[in-house]
Amino acid sequence: MSLEQQKQLEESYVMHTFGRKPVELVRGQGMRLWDDEGKEYLDFLAGIGVVSLGHCHPALVKAVSDQASTLMHVSNYYYIEGRGQLAQKLSDLLNLRVEESQRQPWQTFFANSGAEANECAIKLARLHGRKRAEAAGSDALPRLIVVLERSFHGRTLATLAATAQPVKQEIFQPLPDGFVPTPANDVAALEALFAQCGDQICGMLLEPVQGECGVYPCTEEYLQAARRLTERYDALLMFDEVQCGMYRCGTYPFGFQHADVLPDVVTMAKGIAGGVPMGACAARDQVAQIFEPGVHGSTFGGSNLAISAANAVLATIEDEGIAQNVAQVGAYLQEQLSKFDQVLEVRGRGLMVAVDLTEDHDAPAIVLEALGKGFLLNATGPHTLRFLPPLVCTREDVDALIRMLAELL
Ligand SMILES: Cc1ncc(COP(=O)(O)O)c(C=O)c1O
Repeated sequence: MSLEQQKQLEESYVMHTFGRKPVELVRGQGMRLWDDEGKEYLDFLAGIGVVSLGHCHPALVKAVSDQASTLMHVSNYYYIEGRGQLAQKLSDLLNLRVEESQRQPWQTFFANSGAEANECAIKLARLHGRKRAEAAGSDALPRLIVVLERSFHGRTLATLAATAQPVKQEIFQPLPDGFVPTPANDVAALEALFAQCGDQICGMLLEPVQGECGVYPCTEEYLQAARRLTERYDALLMFDEVQCGMYRCGTYPFGFQHADVLPDVVTMAKGIAGGVPMGACAARDQVAQIFEPGVHGSTFGGSNLAISAANAVLATIEDEGIAQNVAQVGAYLQEQLSKFDQVLEVRGRGLMVAVDLTEDHDAPAIVLEALGKGFLLNATGPHTLRFLPPLVCTREDVDALIRMLAELL
């Protein structure tokens, strides 16, 4: 079927929630993709930060193929192979920077997407607030959740309410309430907010590196202030690591581990299973104990197929030293991008990078031109390009990107 026919079918029968680029991708290998006419592309978006091992990594293909021919799904009513091991592995990774004597286990709820992982976190915070009120013998439920301006936490109603971007929220009002936005990296504003309504706050949800708004890392000072205040007011500190987690920032498994801070809840998705849908919400065990059977659930979450994929992804990341690759190639990418006169600012960590271009450069137009030259890029704003390549991206791939950008800019 031609691209034109495919376009017409999608136009008629698929909901128009995404503006698609004029290309049909049919095959992938590592950093490379091919379209229906055999044209090759270098992928600097990785399915929006999902394809962590690159396309069709043999270890992941084997794990998923073997699992698909053995058992794909039985539901959460039963024990299955690999789920406990995966949750234990995540607990170990979350505790990586915690002194051994201080380590406590984390417990994970498995879902299918980032939004669902965040829904789980929001529910945990609300239950935490309820427990706090009960312990104090109070009828006033602490139910506010602090979020950051320009955040992105998903498209379900509650995660949209947590997404402090009024343009995305307006048309869906009324949204679930109880989310209070505050500016990122403004410690004084956060202190004032807690001083004003700390007794009503049950949690704070934030991305340690904000992704969708154009890659803005939170400062260590801010993350530590968030920890100090949530602890003082007995609220949960919840980090949305859907985009910045799973080694995307390099060196460590999670973005928050670049700062000296430990949250109560961490959500993940995207790269965790390398392309098979999976979301996960992990909580330190005293927090996770709030859930009892029947309080939360998912039909598909933590299926045999997704679990085998995630176990293969994590094992491969370790076997192939991918964390170090992300740190090294990410630093090289930032260094090369900052050499362009047309670049005003380079931001990011590891292979989660964005550049602001001078105002005479239209980022969405550059994305289209780059596609013509065989590169998949992404624009998060009129003058902002974001790079989220597979974590196996090499210096040579970066060199190819820089040569192409030099032509375009
Ligand atoms: C930080 C963050 N949280 C949540 C989400 C939502 O994830 P999903 O699209 O898998 O529901 C995203 C998606 O881009 C994200 O970047």
